[in-house]
Parts: sequence; structure tokens; C-alpha cells
Amino acid sequence: MTPHAALYALHLLAALIWVGGMFFAWMILRPAAVSTLEPPAQLRLWLEVFRRFFLWVWPAVLVLPFTGVGMLHLSYASMEAAPRYVHMMIGLYVAMLALFLRVSALLLPQLRAAVNAENWPEGGAVLGRIRRVIGFNLVIGLALVTIVAIRPTF
Ligand code: HEM
Repeated sequence: MTPHAALYALHLLAALIWVGGMFFAWMILRPAAVSTLEPPAQLRLWLEVFRRFFLWVWPAVLVLPFTGVGMLHLSYASMEAAPRYVHMMIGLYVAMLALFLRVSALLLPQLRAAVNAENWPEGGAVLGRIRRVIGFNLVIGLALVTIVAIRPTF
């Protein structure tokens, strides 16, 4: 296995875990939780889901730029020489990172505080904000993968 192939595999696995996890949370788990659980149980479930999911997202968030920059060094003479879709990938990564940090550093502690205080209306409001941010991040992640696959030449 070449160094590039190893970096490439890690890069794809990290992207898969992050974007695929958001897809599962948004498209499958969210409607299933709404249709089967009362609001307090839903809030407790999401607190535990985010705790476990973010244990995987943190490494993915770190692995993506390290492996990406490694591949850049191996494949291209300079950043300017890299194709446009790689520049777009980096820009969209920064947007995804900012949204992830917003959820994990700002909104998640608010959700935890509301659940601990058994303040269910507040917890529901915070969960709604988290849902919107993660939905937006999912759209960016899916768009990023599509752009990389299409490799637009503009
Ligand atoms: C700082 C962040 C990132 C850097 C520097 C980076 C860099 C790279 C590089 C250099 C390649 C190989 C492209 C080539 O040589 O043709 C690549 C491939 C890829 N990246 Fe990233 N990337 C980053 C973030 C992301 C993120 C956040 C995702 C998705 C969530 C992602 C998904 C992909 C995919 C799917 C490929 C495979 C493209 C292909 O060759 O078919 N990358 N990335």
C-alpha cells in the first residue's frame, strides 16, 4: 500500500463516518424518536446519542485535514497547483467545522443543562436549534462529496 493510498482510505473513512452519521441521525433516528418517545425520553436519548456520536466525529474532524494536507503534499507541487474542487473541499470543511463546534461547544452544554434541570420546553427549543444546525451541516457534507465526485472545472 502506498502512503497516498493509506491517507486516501483514512480520509474517506473519516468523511463517511461524519456525513453518514449525520444522515442517519437526521433521516432515520429523528423521525423514529419523534414517533415512539415522549419529549423527555427523546431529549435524554439525543443527549446520549450526541455524546457517543461526537466521540467519533472528533477524530474524523482531525483526520480529514491531516490526511487531506498529506495527499496535497504527495500529489501537487503547491496549494495553487491543486484542482479547484480541492480548494472548495477545504472551504466547505471550514464551514462544517464551525457548525460542528457550534453544536458541541455551545448548544450541547445548553441541552445538557436543560435535561439536568428537567426543563423540557427549554430542552425542546435547544434540540430544535441543534437539529437545524446539523441539518445544514449534512447538506454541506453531501454537497461537498457531490462536488468532489463531479470535479467541476469552473
Ligand atoms: C482541510 C480539509 C480537507 C483537505 C485538505 C482535503 C484534501 C483532499 C485531497 C488532496 C484529496 C485527493 C484529491 C485528489 O488528489 O484528486 C481529497 C479527496 C477526497 N476528500 Fe477531502 N479534504 C478535506 C476535507 C474533506 C471533507 C470534510 C470531506 C467530506 C466530508 C472530504 C471528502 C473527500 C472525498 C470524498 C475525496 C475523494 C475524492 C476522489 O478522489 O474521488 N474531504 N481530499
